[in-house]
Amino acid sequence: MAVDPGAEIARLRAAVRDLVALSSIPAAWVGREPPDIAAGLAGALVGSLQLDFAFVRLCDPSGAGAVEVTRGNTWKTFPEWLERHLTSGQLSCKEVVADVADVAGAVEPCRGVVIPIGIDAEGGLVAAACDRTDFPTEIDQMLLSIAANHAATAFQNARLIAERIRAEEELRRAGNELEMKVAERTEELRASRARIVAAADETRRRIQRDLHDGAQQRLVHTVITLKLARRALQRQDEDVPALVTEALQQAERANDELRELAHGILPAVLTTGGLRAAVYALASQMPMQVEIGVGVGRLPAAVEATAYYVVAEALTNVAKHSRAGRVTVTAGIEDRTLEVLVRDDGRGGARPDGSGLMGLADRLAALDGRLRIESPADGGTLVAAALPLAGSFPPSQT
Ligand SMILES: Nc1ncnc2c1ncn2[C@@H]1O[C@H](COP(=O)(O)OP(=O)(O)O)[C@@H](O)[C@H]1O
Ligand SMILES: [Mg+2]
Repeated sequence: MAVDPGAEIARLRAAVRDLVALSSIPAAWVGREPPDIAAGLAGALVGSLQLDFAFVRLCDPSGAGAVEVTRGNTWKTFPEWLERHLTSGQLSCKEVVADVADVAGAVEPCRGVVIPIGIDAEGGLVAAACDRTDFPTEIDQMLLSIAANHAATAFQNARLIAERIRAEEELRRAGNELEMKVAERTEELRASRARIVAAADETRRRIQRDLHDGAQQRLVHTVITLKLARRALQRQDEDVPALVTEALQQAERANDELRELAHGILPAVLTTGGLRAAVYALASQMPMQVEIGVGVGRLPAAVEATAYYVVAEALTNVAKHSRAGRVTVTAGIEDRTLEVLVRDDGRGGARPDGSGLMGLADRLAALDGRLRIESPADGGTLVAAALPLAGSFPPSQT
């Protein structure tokens, strides 16, 4: 067949024009969302290449979500010929459909083509239909392939960018959360430190008051009575023995009160016998039976004192608030942490924001420890303290 050079030049010119038009599209896709890219390609095929119908499916080779777009109004519903191709399982091959049929009112039979993107259509596919008699020419197919591959590259870039933006957003959110947590924790620590200082001041004031109202008064009384006794002795009065007896009684009461006061600061049984002995001493003052399982030996003094206060406060609460029939106290070391548990079978509903329990939490926090309270409204209370042991503490000591 003789080739008309003029027609051939016009055909090639049109092809170059279309190629330039398609090549300029990727620049417009930069920064666009993946669905926009598929829509842009389908629009360009129908608009620039003047096709009647275009279908674009773009997928990420990693298997992430695909996007699909159709353009052109040749079919009211999804065309059957394309549906057949998509479900045939032959997606990796290019297919030219000579007569796509079922086009109502079409003058010429429509022809279609399906072109896969990437190996085994892993990047998706492009399908187009047109009623031009020569469709799809080699140039049509080449242009479709080029456009489809441009789109696939842009699509993957868009996915990567979207992923990066998402990751950055997540990182920012995690950073903000962390900052908020640090701020919260700092505020908690500040408040807890203030409460510890206030509690220490209050304790000092109480000791001063107790000393002033108690032992100090008794000693003043003793001194005065002894002075009276001395004068009576000089005068050889007969009430000397009574005065000495009174002075002695006052001195003994002063001694008792001082002992009691010292006891209130830290009981001697703890400092001399350790946690186990102190827990038995506390349990002996309880109105109900206490089961004890304290499997620890001597511990650093600060740890022993804090554990003692936990047990003392928890047992006082059991006696005061719980109406429990049974209470268990256990202590043991696990992962270089002393765990102290006080469990009762009472009415539950302990409030961790009460001054006693909060004071415990503060004490524990000062040693990097934690207090956990489980006290459901339907009964039973667990007060659990975890106290990390300092690095130098021998792990084998129990
Ligand atoms: N073992 C418990 N069983 C039931 N209720 C408890 C128990 N321990 C504490 N509570 C409740 O929680 C509140 C807070 O306890 P706490 O902080 O020790 O304060 P306080 O003993 O000074 O009232 C108590 O007032 C009490 O109502
Ligand atoms: Mg209490």
